[in-house]
Amino acid sequence: MMEKRRKVTILDLYAMKERGEKISWLTAYDYPTAQFAEAASMDMILVGDSLGMCVYGYEGTVPVTMDQCIVHSEAVRRAAPTAFVIGDMPFMSYQASDEGAVLNAGRFLKEAGVDAIKLEGGVRVISRIRAILDAGIVVCGHIGLTPQSSGQLGGHKAQGRTVESARLLIEDALAIEEAGAQLLLLEAVPPEVARFITGKLSIPVLSIGAGPDCDGQLLIVSDMIGQFQAFTPKFVKKYANVAEVITNAMKEYIKDVKAGAFPADEHCYHMLKGEDEKFKDLIKEYE
Ligand code: KIV
Repeated sequence: MMEKRRKVTILDLYAMKERGEKISWLTAYDYPTAQFAEAASMDMILVGDSLGMCVYGYEGTVPVTMDQCIVHSEAVRRAAPTAFVIGDMPFMSYQASDEGAVLNAGRFLKEAGVDAIKLEGGVRVISRIRAILDAGIVVCGHIGLTPQSSGQLGGHKAQGRTVESARLLIEDALAIEEAGAQLLLLEAVPPEVARFITGKLSIPVLSIGAGPDCDGQLLIVSDMIGQFQAFTPKFVKKYANVAEVITNAMKEYIKDVKAGAFPADEHCYHMLKGEDEKFKDLIKEYE
């Protein structure tokens, strides 16, 4: 029998950085997917606000609410008791005030039992990060391409591709570590810049589209298993094509239903022994 894994903690993630073991990180939004991630021994799971696109069919992450994030985080936590689970603060759950940020971050822990929260932004959200940390909550920063402010960035564009923009990213990364955040995610950043930041910071620095030299990698599960159809970012590697598998299964099912080939005898509940004769008598009563 496989030995049950011990719960992954923030100290384990620090130790992995220290010994150069890459950290595996994937999003999940529902119970079955999180069960697969847990069974695969994923180190970390992000209940990302990308659930807006991947689960609800929104065009972006902006409409996602705290209540949606909590419900999905609860399901993921139930399915993945040992992975390090991070709840993603949705748009307007932390932008308005430090107090609002703390209350919403607290909901993730109290109602969903996550291990940490993630929020987007660098220098401009430092007071939010400090306030959440002061409440005793583990914080993961997120800089580079920050989808919630993609309007200001002029779309979903890679960041840090000029020296000036790379300097801003480095300043953001240093400020986030200095504030006390325990993890940092870089999204869509050149590998040279990501390598420098990863070497400079003592906290684990994770990549989604930031090259191979970070302390670990994150992908969106719906991209990685070939489920999300609208677009595929450059940094995605598809490990499966479940959209094709599921669509083909559904087409087969339709064919069987139309042809009367489903259900077969093995899919039927027959009457208990002896009851079938009595049933014939029952039918007669209605004739
Ligand atoms: O919501 C999410 O999945 C994210 C990733 C894009 C980093 O924040």
